[in-house]
Amino acid sequence: MSSSIDNAVLVSPSAEVLRAAQILQAGGLVALPTETVYGLGANALNLDAVARVFDVKGRPRFDPLIVHVAELEQVFPFVVEFPQAAQRLAEQFWPGPLTLVLPKTDTISDLVTAAAPTVAIRIPDHPISQSLLKTVQLPIAAPSANLFGRISPTTADHVREQLGDRIDYILDGGPCRVGVESTVLQITADGARLLRPGGVTLEAIEAVIGPVELPPFAKTVSDMALASPGMLPQHYAPRTRLVLANQPEELPATEGNLRVGLLAFRSPPKSKDAFASIEILSATGDLREAAARFFAALRRLDAAGLDLIVAQTFPEEGLGRALNDRLRRAAT
Ligand code: TXA
Ligand code: MG
Repeated sequence: MSSSIDNAVLVSPSAEVLRAAQILQAGGLVALPTETVYGLGANALNLDAVARVFDVKGRPRFDPLIVHVAELEQVFPFVVEFPQAAQRLAEQFWPGPLTLVLPKTDTISDLVTAAAPTVAIRIPDHPISQSLLKTVQLPIAAPSANLFGRISPTTADHVREQLGDRIDYILDGGPCRVGVESTVLQITADGARLLRPGGVTLEAIEAVIGPVELPPFAKTVSDMALASPGMLPQHYAPRTRLVLANQPEELPATEGNLRVGLLAFRSPPKSKDAFASIEILSATGDLREAAARFFAALRRLDAAGLDLIVAQTFPEEGLGRALNDRLRRAAT
């Protein structure tokens, strides 16, 4: 009858998961794989550990963290209410790449939520994060495991490069299946607001709860910052300058011997020879495949000693919305 009990009996945690759980229980920091990107996890109830997450990432304290749990029952102590829309979304998309923002109880510290009256919660869908969350039996606060503002990690090696010497353990779960962060959705009394497009598409969400309010819902920049503190115009950025082009042929005329790289959605452009390096995300134009490869390809271009990266935009639908959002911020 209860499949979660069967799973707990059948799949006992690996030695690596047990070690990670012990470190988290002792207040340490563990990088953990999820289906979206790797997270930098800490016990959300241990304020010293949470403070270290901000310090290690160089993340401003005004940018709140997502709290990760293993199953739905663990959400209720942290939220004042769990409206019907949230229930329907949880049924449909959890575990999975959807984060719900709901009014919080005092059990979750203001440090985690950056003093917001709401908490962001997600149940990730990755066998290793599931096993870890079930074993540790704690809510785990976890931002993406990259330095603040930089490219999100989709492999354990990406985490090691940026944070390896600053954290206590890296749990390796292979490359992330989805490849872009979760969709962040605020549930309010009168509906739902999209705070960040991500791994669950807007179309799929609207099919379950009807129309969702899209940004900008606020008239001023500071209102918007209050609604979604982490959605800074600049984010996910490579060190190399990045510009957007709807078609690679729209390339800004480059002077001299600039080494230019291309991040292409599907087609190798006619002007192939103009590029020192080309990453094609999906030869067949599959947005899922493109998302899964996106951050790693951006990192490879960033490491290729280029003067400029030109990125082709995606169709503004499905996962293309999340990918365009990341591109725009990387290009700012
Ligand atoms: O897929 C993901 O969401 C990954 C994995 C590790 O779960 N996590 C992630 O975390 O992307 P982070 O910290 O890089 O992005 C979290 C976003 C930020 O934009 C933050 O401002 C927003 O969620 N957020 C968190 N709590 C919030 C709250 N209470 N109200 C509004 N936005 C919130
Ligand atoms: Mg992040």
